[in-house]
Amino acid sequence: MAAPLKVGVAGLGNVGAALAAQVTHQREALAARCGRRIEIVAVSARSRSKDRGVDLRHIKWFTDPVALARSTGIDVFVELMGGAGEPAKSAVEAALASGKSVVTANKALLAKHGLKLAQLAEKHGAALNFEAAVGAAIPIVKTLREGLSGNAVHRVYGILNGTCNYILTKMEQENLPFADCLKEAQRLGYAEADPTFDIEGHDTAQKLAILASLAFGTRVEQSAVYVEGISSITPADLTAADELGYRVKLLGVAVKTPKGIEQRVHPTMVRKDSSIAQVMGVTNAATIDAEGLAPLTLVGPGAGGAATASAVLSDIADIARGLRTAPFGRPTAKLAGVRKAPMQRHEGGYYIRLLARDKPGTAATIAKRLAQQEISLESIVQRHPEGGPVGDGKGAVPVILITYATHEDAVRKALAAVGRDRVISGRPQVIRIEKN
Ligand SMILES: NC(=O)c1ccc[n+]([C@@H]2O[C@H](COP(=O)([O-])OP(=O)(O)OC[C@H]3O[C@@H](n4cnc5c(N)ncnc54)[C@H](OP(=O)(O)O)[C@@H]3O)[C@@H](O)[C@H]2O)c1
Repeated sequence: MAAPLKVGVAGLGNVGAALAAQVTHQREALAARCGRRIEIVAVSARSRSKDRGVDLRHIKWFTDPVALARSTGIDVFVELMGGAGEPAKSAVEAALASGKSVVTANKALLAKHGLKLAQLAEKHGAALNFEAAVGAAIPIVKTLREGLSGNAVHRVYGILNGTCNYILTKMEQENLPFADCLKEAQRLGYAEADPTFDIEGHDTAQKLAILASLAFGTRVEQSAVYVEGISSITPADLTAADELGYRVKLLGVAVKTPKGIEQRVHPTMVRKDSSIAQVMGVTNAATIDAEGLAPLTLVGPGAGGAATASAVLSDIADIARGLRTAPFGRPTAKLAGVRKAPMQRHEGGYYIRLLARDKPGTAATIAKRLAQQEISLESIVQRHPEGGPVGDGKGAVPVILITYATHEDAVRKALAAVGRDRVISGRPQVIRIEKN
């Protein structure tokens, strides 16, 4: 049997500790599959005294993760500290610069510095594997990078944040407001004390930027992602969606259009009978539309120490086997710049919920403003508050419009005009509809 693969792990939190346990538990199976043993020989974390439920007695301890990354005693450096800044960035750079392969679960680092790190890996002949960075245990990175090497991908979209999907599921199933469901998610440990990064869509945006690069052979560019979160969604929207045959999900969508590549994260109406609409709670999913294939959907646990560690370990096993793929599926010189499709030109159907003032001529005014922007309606639902979405108690009536395909700027212009006409109360709710 070949010499063991010596692994150094920086970060022994949820994922790092689970990885150490899994390497021990799977020792024999890994050796059989890879033709050599995988051994964690060195680790680093902030606190040496913390009990991590793992036996570290025979493992070398490094106070400085960058020194661990440079150490000649390891073949592979595994970065599980997190964050786009220090020490993760310097540690990964140091490992790659010394020709060591790197495995990381760090979406923030890859979304911000992915191209530079891939160039460094290429220059020094090292692997840079990051399956766990998107969708944790779901093998979406390998599917796009290797499984679909022979297919042109048109679109990839998914539920990439379990916190948001948990909140939306609970709001829908129990007819509860957003704030109550967020509190429950925090109580259960599904949401951070400061949940902004998740609920405002930034976590999904980082993952989407990585998926878009893999899908379309472009450079990772997080700044090209349009982002809206879920905090404005109300139970009234979810009830209306349900009645119209939809469900609301926070989707990350990357799609090739004639105007360039759209990368967008926003609450989205998906048909209730679609695969993605069945994904409830903290589960993640991604659907790929590729030439010559019916849509391919991968569903599974998108977070959690053990789930994430399983993807990290699979990346380590690839290195042990001697498998090496360009980090983003092709040489970095062949990664194209992102031609960003402007969001104003986004084309699709829209759900619009307005609180229309209950006075003569309101409906005609709204219809006129939509017609001026050439927006056609697939359906219009107007109900007095009883039994329907709630009004504002001041004589305004909820009106729900579903448009046929139109443009984002047409919708924005029509709603701005309706606002100036003073026939509605409050801000209209707008949710994009994704064809699936
Ligand atoms: N948890 C998940 O469900 C999940 C899912 C997908 C991807 N990921 C990614 O996996 C990575 C790790 O996540 P996690 O949940 O395991 O995080 P975590 O529980 O917060 O663990 C972070 C670890 O890094 C160590 N660390 C932090 N700063 C350090 C420093 N300056 N020097 C040395 N060690 C340092 C910490 O040491 P101490 O323990 O001593 O404080 C801790 O062991 C992140 O990139 C995250 O985005 C996590």
